[in-house]
Amino acid sequence: MTTPATPAPAGSPAQLAALREDLRAAPYTVDRVEQVLGPVAEAALHREQPLPADLATRGSEDPVATLLRVFVLGLPVSAAALAAALPRTGVRGVQALGLVGQGSRVSGLCDLRPYGEDQHTWWVASDLTETATGRALGTGHVLGVGGASTTLASWTPRPRVRRALDLGTGCGVQSLHLAGHTSHRVATDLSARALDFARFTAGLNEVELDLRAGSLWEPVAGEEFDLVVSNPPFVITPRRADVPVYDYRDGGATGDEVVAGLVRGMESHLAPGGIAQLLGNWELRSGESWQEHVSGWLEGTGLDAWVVQRDMQDVAEYAETWARDGGHRPGTAGFDGLYEAWLSDFAARGVERVGFGVLTLQRPGQDRAPWRVLEHLPSPTAVPMGPTVLAEVRARTWLALHSDDEVLSVPWSVADDVGEERVGYPGAPDPAVIRLRQGGGLRRVEQLDTLTAAVVGACDGDLSAAQIVQAVAVLTDVDAGEVKAQVVPRLRRLIAGGLMH
Ligand SMILES: C[S@@+](CC[C@H](N)C(=O)[O-])C[C@H]1O[C@@H](n2cnc3c(N)ncnc32)[C@H](O)[C@@H]1O
Repeated sequence: MTTPATPAPAGSPAQLAALREDLRAAPYTVDRVEQVLGPVAEAALHREQPLPADLATRGSEDPVATLLRVFVLGLPVSAAALAAALPRTGVRGVQALGLVGQGSRVSGLCDLRPYGEDQHTWWVASDLTETATGRALGTGHVLGVGGASTTLASWTPRPRVRRALDLGTGCGVQSLHLAGHTSHRVATDLSARALDFARFTAGLNEVELDLRAGSLWEPVAGEEFDLVVSNPPFVITPRRADVPVYDYRDGGATGDEVVAGLVRGMESHLAPGGIAQLLGNWELRSGESWQEHVSGWLEGTGLDAWVVQRDMQDVAEYAETWARDGGHRPGTAGFDGLYEAWLSDFAARGVERVGFGVLTLQRPGQDRAPWRVLEHLPSPTAVPMGPTVLAEVRARTWLALHSDDEVLSVPWSVADDVGEERVGYPGAPDPAVIRLRQGGGLRRVEQLDTLTAAVVGACDGDLSAAQIVQAVAVLTDVDAGEVKAQVVPRLRRLIAGGLMH
């Protein structure tokens, strides 16, 4: 870890309350920022091009424009403009919080921006981005909210529970979400500086956090949680002296051992019935499927697991991404050196590709065999995905506890977001293909055989599936036992995937 250039911001509850009031009054919200920047500047900023945002805010007296310039774009503003944008806090107050430097023209010392969903506006503090500083990131850089953060937040199931763990909290973003549905939150990080940012973010948003320093499971030894979330430092990194270790992306292990270790250790940190939601990367070797590799992490555990692989990259694409992430440009010696380090590290372990995905784990609440589902689903999903994840976990758990006859005894119905597609040759009396297509969730598409289609078509929540199977057997002149044997596994699949409930 390198020594950080600036300490994280910090303040008393009264100082944070004044700042919160100022940010609310500005109003420094996601919507207002979008309005002030406009779609073009905002999209350019996402592409790490700050000039359109600079032009959109230059000369403006709007407090939101001032706050964007100082805390997002890293541009100096006059002390008078900052005082007008944050009147309760005042320039001295903002300096005392460690948010800006000294002088008559002040510059932001950290990134502070609104973040939220429909019901909330939060403010998240982190280090200034590379776009704002124009410098490569330091190895102790504390990331703001990024694509991985929002993916995890989207996928996290949110039942109301007592104890939650946010492992590798960074700027504290996952804990903000947890505050809405958990009573006690433990947030851990290896980086003391990240914990300082999380403390500031939590205080500013009036969220209580039990912050603990330490690596992976160390700070929570012997403790169980109802919900564990982690966007861990999953980047597979060569362990060589010439490859820098960035706290935010590298847990210090070889290959994909960080995520593997989290999975292996999860069972002893989940309360019975507890759920964990993680992001991960995994190594794919020739002759080994990704399912075999990730299933290996679960061996010997009693955890239920639903793993969705969302993407896959070859080793060169992966190496390019992470060589560039350190601030090196392709074509430079620094870039080529890192690129080669990654390629030789992968070659040494026979790795050909890297998979990216989300893992949902559950410690069964009862004594039974765990269920396991590993599927590659790269298409876009609903946002948020959490309700779908919770419904699928509950459906799969119910199915694991019930026999085929019990499944058939239920009056199932087709979910409201599911439509049926029939595709056939023009003029043909019968469709060649019958499919169910889910509108929400993972947008699953399930092809049906004619017997299952007949049963599903009659499932309206009134008759039990067993009654419908009997009727279909009579109508099609197929033995009822045969219909049952064919339909039940498919019915289970549709129920598990949320197409029927
Ligand atoms: C990708 S960031 C995630 C930050 C935040 N939770 C989010 O969702 O945006 C990973 C975090 O894990 C922390 N970290 C790195 N190595 C760690 C370790 N061995 N144990 C715990 N945390 C670690 C980093 O400091 C960083 O804050």
